[in-house]
Amino acid sequence: MSVTAKRRADYLPPAFSIPLVDLTISLHPTKTVVKSKLSVKRRLTKDSVKDTEKNDGNKSQPLILDGNKLSLVSVHINGTPFSDYTLDDETLTLNVDTDDFELEIENHIDPENNKALEGLYLSGGAYCTQCEAEGFRRITFFPDRPDVLSVYTVKVIGDKSFPMLLSNGNPIERGENPDGTHFVTWHDPHPKPCYLFALVAGDFDLLTDTYITTSGKEVALELYVDKGKKSQGTFALASLKRAMKWDEDVFGLEYDLDIYMIVAVDFFNMGAMENKGLNVFNSKFVLADQDSATDDDFFNVEAVIAHEYFHNWTGNRVTCRDWFQLSLKEGLTVFRDQQFSADMTSPLSNRIKHVRVMREHQFAEDASAMSHPIRPEEVIEMNNFYTVTVYDKGAEVIRMFHTLLGPEGFRKGMDEYFRRHDGQAVTCDDFVSAMQSTTELDLTQFSRWYSQSGTPQVSLAHNVTSNETGYVHTFTVTQNTPSTADQSEKLPLYIPVGFEVIDEDGNRYRDDSGMIQNDLLIVDAPEITITITCDAKKLTPVLLGNFSAPVKVHNELDTASLLTIFAHSQDAFNRWDAMQTLYNRCISELYENPTATIDSGIWAGIHAAIDSEIDNIELLSECLVIPSFETLCQSRSNISVQPLIDARKAFCRQFSTQLEAVLLNAFNGIATQAYSYQQDAVNARRCKNVLLSHLARLPQHKDLVISQFDKADNMTDTLGALKAAQSLPADAFESLMAKFEEKWRHDPLVLDKWFALHATQPREDILATITMLSEHPQFSMGNPNRVRSLIGSFAFYNSERFHNLGGEGYKFVTDYLIKLDALNPQVAARIVTPLIQWQGFAEPHQALMKAQLGRLLNHKGLSKDVFEKVSKSLA
Ligand code: PHE
Ligand code: ZN
Repeated sequence: MSVTAKRRADYLPPAFSIPLVDLTISLHPTKTVVKSKLSVKRRLTKDSVKDTEKNDGNKSQPLILDGNKLSLVSVHINGTPFSDYTLDDETLTLNVDTDDFELEIENHIDPENNKALEGLYLSGGAYCTQCEAEGFRRITFFPDRPDVLSVYTVKVIGDKSFPMLLSNGNPIERGENPDGTHFVTWHDPHPKPCYLFALVAGDFDLLTDTYITTSGKEVALELYVDKGKKSQGTFALASLKRAMKWDEDVFGLEYDLDIYMIVAVDFFNMGAMENKGLNVFNSKFVLADQDSATDDDFFNVEAVIAHEYFHNWTGNRVTCRDWFQLSLKEGLTVFRDQQFSADMTSPLSNRIKHVRVMREHQFAEDASAMSHPIRPEEVIEMNNFYTVTVYDKGAEVIRMFHTLLGPEGFRKGMDEYFRRHDGQAVTCDDFVSAMQSTTELDLTQFSRWYSQSGTPQVSLAHNVTSNETGYVHTFTVTQNTPSTADQSEKLPLYIPVGFEVIDEDGNRYRDDSGMIQNDLLIVDAPEITITITCDAKKLTPVLLGNFSAPVKVHNELDTASLLTIFAHSQDAFNRWDAMQTLYNRCISELYENPTATIDSGIWAGIHAAIDSEIDNIELLSECLVIPSFETLCQSRSNISVQPLIDARKAFCRQFSTQLEAVLLNAFNGIATQAYSYQQDAVNARRCKNVLLSHLARLPQHKDLVISQFDKADNMTDTLGALKAAQSLPADAFESLMAKFEEKWRHDPLVLDKWFALHATQPREDILATITMLSEHPQFSMGNPNRVRSLIGSFAFYNSERFHNLGGEGYKFVTDYLIKLDALNPQVAARIVTPLIQWQGFAEPHQALMKAQLGRLLNHKGLSKDVFEKVSKSLA
């Protein structure tokens, strides 16, 4: 196995360009024939040669093509057989001395036995490709790197049992062959990197629509779904049109081909893929209807549809020079899809959703051996870097540009980015300089966010003195980024910190020297001090409004101040966050002393907070959610898992008991309305389900859960009842689960919810249950969605059993990963994540986790995906 890391610093431009690619692909389950005709041009510059001493201007460089798991049949150059090449497991090296030639290569591949779902694979009755990041090399020999851009013509030949033969761009010819097969030829006029190539062949139901762009161009929209699922595709298609309109309105970006196709497939490693003109989606992010999809599912469908559509400009028209620049397209596109979702639904609940992801997952990644900057420096397996850091922290960095430049300034910078780089493969630095050219602000220090990993901590110290003019409040804000596994030295960052100062009545205060502008304090040094001179003796500083930067905050506030923030902050996010801090603090008390009782003043405060927001159910529902175990971990170290889980449970139990009347009252006050996926109705269901989960802890409300389950006419309420039922006695839960399975056993996507509910039950015999479920007729180790819902849910979210002190949970996951890795390394490498995050836990957790990681590392034939993560975690 080649496990050498590639480094960002070692980038060299390609030695050859390939302006034209002509592919003929004859589909066959085990012996697909790929004929590739490439126009190749030597780039006669010195930049692609490393050794400057011997640099003859690239005249003698061989042409090196990537190729993986391919059987080579023949090579021709300018029509003549060519044999001066060497072939190994990863490359085909052609010793050519011409500068401009036509290269023809024929090779065979085996899509049926491709279980890694990278390259061309045949699964669930359809052929499908996945090329990002480095999958094109599993289809044919090619310089598989994003800075080689080519115009593609692709002829797909297949059996007529695959009536639909699709590839990128526009269809230019179709016909039948004497042997009974048929073909379609596609042409994509936009030069693209090979990772955006796609091919799909199968028999689908087709939904069609049209979209007219602002400039009057008509675009045909086509959505391909499994037979019989047509009605579940209408929402996705409508979402696509909303996304197209939004990108025109907000960024002035129009679609650039005559046809936009989306195919939903059941076997897919990730969420979806932005192949030019032919997106391939995990069916989970396409199919949705009232009966089978929750409100969250609807939300995710719309967000992912938009995300992939937005890539057409941020990713496809302007692409990445090399994979270290992944955040160039992903951070930016996630930011764009978040803004879109906020506009389509609600800014507040969106912001909270994304902050939860940062706190639960990104902070954990940054605290682990996998810590990396949003632009990584070193990579063994690129698939391991499609991370919450590159995506979500990357989006937070783009959001900070947006905050600092304002919506109009940001738009100007984006316009300049496209003006400069349309049609190019560029770097994060190119993005920053486009932004820089349109703003007065000096972005030099800000750009450290691209190179520095770790979660910065922003701390506040508050002192009050008094003099003849009144009270003088001194606020000292410090920043500090603890060293991370990948990087010990940290420099001060340029951090926009939302900053609001209020008194007990909600009056707002300005600082003496006006350093707080637009409720923002720029913290660009290790320490910043501001003062406020006023009549008020007690002031409450409120930090990080709207989560203005991806940092942790230390701001010692008493309960009264937290409740003041809840009552009076202008920023709804801060109000929510104050309640989260309050809950977190109560849980700490119970963690330190399990017999502690929470002060009655706190319950009264929460009670009053609920009363005050009874008509603002969007904020109310979010405020009633107790921080997850995973979130609680991010503000603690040396964690003893069971005591922390017990503390959280105890707090939840007291919450239900102490607040029963007001919770029940709120629950009964929300009328059940006819189902629609409209914001008001979504908020109502969300609030009802959060309330139900609290009430379900009290035996006297068991019937509320059962009755909601029985009456529900939509999946949101059904699932809400099932989740609440997780805290009912086992037999009640089991009986609802059995009814659910009875109804949905034919629909694997719905059954995934059921697998996940089982897998997250903290019962003692959970491992036996999971083993039994893995034999369920709908379960298959070859399908990533099934594996994620059963095994992934257990490892990520059943902390009580995963971290069980006998070590069985760790061992169970490890045993499974060893089997899975042989089939699908990408999915195995994702599920290993909770195991490599041992740093936060107390002994004996660490030792037990490391023992299993050691077993993995010693396993013969381990993929480089899993190897990279495991070896780092043990280093
Ligand atoms: N580029 C895809 C997206 O974020 C993600 C992806 C990466 C899909 C690698 C498949 C493989 O939109
Ligand atoms: Zn993306």
